[in-house]
Amino acid sequence: MQEASAIKAEFARAFGDGGRVHVIRAPGRVNLIGEHTDYNDGFVCPMAIEAEVRVVCRARQDGAVRLASTAFPGEIAEFSVEKKIEKGKPAWTNYIRGVAAELVGAGIPLTGMDALIDNTLPVGGGLSSSAAIEVGTGLAFLTLAGVEMDRDRLALICQKAEHEFAGVPVGIMDQMIVATGRQGFATQYDCRSGARQFVKINPDDLRVVIVNSLVKHELTGGEYAKRRKQCEEGVAYFQKLSPGAGIRALRDVTMKMIHEAQGKLEALILRRCRHVVSENQRTIEAATALAQDKYERAGKLMQESHASLRDDYEVSCAELDFLSVEAMTVKGVYGARMTGGGFGGCIVALTQPRSVEVLEAHLVRVYQVKFGRKPTAFATSATAGASVVE
Ligand code: GLA
Repeated sequence: MQEASAIKAEFARAFGDGGRVHVIRAPGRVNLIGEHTDYNDGFVCPMAIEAEVRVVCRARQDGAVRLASTAFPGEIAEFSVEKKIEKGKPAWTNYIRGVAAELVGAGIPLTGMDALIDNTLPVGGGLSSSAAIEVGTGLAFLTLAGVEMDRDRLALICQKAEHEFAGVPVGIMDQMIVATGRQGFATQYDCRSGARQFVKINPDDLRVVIVNSLVKHELTGGEYAKRRKQCEEGVAYFQKLSPGAGIRALRDVTMKMIHEAQGKLEALILRRCRHVVSENQRTIEAATALAQDKYERAGKLMQESHASLRDDYEVSCAELDFLSVEAMTVKGVYGARMTGGGFGGCIVALTQPRSVEVLEAHLVRVYQVKFGRKPTAFATSATAGASVVE
């Protein structure tokens, strides 16, 4: 991350001096537990992290949106909020085109803008750089238009942008936590009712360490959408079995129903459903355990979550499995698991503060020996959701 003054200078180089310039920050996120549950009306427990996207922006009166990125110096992409907004190139601008299109569709009168985007989140690293770009530029558009918007509504608009313009049928977790995270807390979130419980992450007792396998996860590859469809097949089975039970999503299915479906429901669909149903239980229990400082219990549930994602949901990979097993060989580590959509990206570990450095050094060393690449490892505190910095 560049200093605010450095990115503002870069903004001036790209777009010229003068006018009122705003700086917006939108954090990435790490999910402690509750994976692939959000689109099943279930529970998640993410927190916003220190790595973030910054958007430096200034209004334009001609409706043009001109976009630059510190990752691609010298390139400027352009579209207009006064014409129908469509997908375009380069691909990263589609997140912003999508957010603009959805805001216009929601009746918000947008002005054009010059915007420079700076990102310290690894792209494709499973820490929601796309949600951070969406929420950050959404907040930039709203700020320049002088419009206040409820953060949950902004999150929904950004989610829709991702569906329509990036083509990935994501749930609400990422956009929700990027838009509404609370400093010092993880958020246990009920994706059906929108109810929140804040779980204190006190850095004196507990540290959150993220290790990036550097395996790029590609949710657009179709596996994510496939999992969603398999869950829907599961729902259809349970609905047919108990028409009066009011089953709307896997959220409404119990472990008892899963056991009873053994040998009747197709084995693969059953395993997908078993992951979601058990993960919802683990998430509620882990959030409670964390709130009561029962870190060993929370860590154990994270281990179980990883195993379920690996064996039943099949969204892990050899690198993530290796990192989560190796993390547990370090004294003082409570739990570790893959985080985010999977197929690469990061693991998250909960650890005693005094074990942070040993853990990071150990994982970097053994991973390099095994896979020949040096992963990035860092500790983070829980930060606040997106905000206007100046
Ligand atoms: C991605 C999606 C989220 C969620 C996770 C898996 O990050 O954007 O909505 O489904 O995968 O938990």
